[in-house]
Amino acid sequence: MTIHNVGLIVGSISSTSINRRLARALIALAPQTDLLLTEIPIRDLPIYSADHDAAIPEEAAEFKRAIVDYDAIIVVTPEYNRSVPGVLKNALDTASRPWGDNSFADKPSAVIGTSMGAIGTAVAQQQLRGILSFLASPVLPQPEAYVQSYDDLFTDDGQVTDSRTREFLISWLTAAHAHFDKTLRPVHGFTLTQS
Ligand SMILES: Cc1cc2nc3c(=O)[nH]c(=O)nc-3n(C[C@H](O)[C@H](O)[C@H](O)COP(=O)(O)O)c2cc1C
Repeated sequence: MTIHNVGLIVGSISSTSINRRLARALIALAPQTDLLLTEIPIRDLPIYSADHDAAIPEEAAEFKRAIVDYDAIIVVTPEYNRSVPGVLKNALDTASRPWGDNSFADKPSAVIGTSMGAIGTAVAQQQLRGILSFLASPVLPQPEAYVQSYDDLFTDDGQVTDSRTREFLISWLTAAHAHFDKTLRPVHGFTLTQS
């Protein structure tokens, strides 16, 4: 099976983030599914302004390059007020500009997230899917991954303490791999290119 290098964006900058713990679990499980996950940090990105289009700040340029360089992107999102956190939206806006230089174009992606709430970031993920689709990123349609957290479900060092959750995450990563394969596979001798 092809090994894919995947960039991981975590939509939380909280020092106690449960989504970061989920992200660490995904990083630990991914090699079992022939995916190698590496975080692309968003903490130090400047707040996007159209003023940056003429002279892109170095942190933003580095972030955009990273998205282009990875085979695919996984986004782990918290849910803030039934939407994605501002830091994540800022990162997506940064990646999308300047006009004509959208780093997500044709880049396969998958979305996942966790909260203590019963619907496990479902609303934020639906909005995130809409944004990624608008950015021409083919998003893994199924399975959806709404992970309801509780204390100690994920340890700080990437262990998943519940076996059913661990098995689900492995099956989700396996489906993500298949989606990345399908999207990246040459069609009639051509590959998708950045636009
Ligand atoms: C401003 C704010 C808004 C929130 N809104 C929601 C929400 O709409 N749905 C939800 O399930 N949890 C909501 N929460 C609770 C978050 O799920 C919880 O803080 C979670 O730990 C955030 O993820 P993180 O720890 O990875 O940063 C909200 C938290 C904050 C601080």
